[in-house]
Amino acid sequence: MKKCITVTLFLFCGLLLLPAFTAEGGGKLKIPKKVDAVFQAKCYGCHNNESKNNRPKDKLNWDTLPSLPADQQAEKLAAIQKVLEKGSMPPDRFLEKQPDKKLTDKETANMKKWAVKMAKRVSK
Ligand code: HEC
Repeated sequence: MKKCITVTLFLFCGLLLLPAFTAEGGGKLKIPKKVDAVFQAKCYGCHNNESKNNRPKDKLNWDTLPSLPADQQAEKLAAIQKVLEKGSMPPDRFLEKQPDKKLTDKETANMKKWAVKMAKRVSK
């Protein structure tokens, strides 16, 4: 009998937690190592949780992206596609000082492909 109550409690708690997980984009956002490595090398310096500059952090925070609600993830992914199409990130002023941070055509293409795929996936 005791076991039965424990099992019921577990199931009940699981049900309570379920909406919390589904709200977080359902864990559908996957960041492959290849995409993550490029972002870490060329974007993360400005778009991270500890960034002292709030403007890039507010627009895109790589650290919190996986835990955002699905609709916000879709927005961020669309913004990523947009900057990749325009070639506007990293900002020109920054590239003047650190030209090695410029994305190669291949990196741009890979990241864009990922953003398009993920935007579809999280909005399903
Ligand atoms: C030197 C710092 C810096 C680096 C490096 C950088 N960004 Fe940004 N990013 C910014 C700033 C500043 C803004 C805010 C621009 C604004 O408000 O107009 C921004 C904004 C953005 C936005 C939001 C655009 C919008 O219109 O909402 C995206 C998406 C983005 N960056 C992606 C990237 C990606 C992808 C990379 C790497 C390829 C990258 N950034 C590298 C500084 C940076």
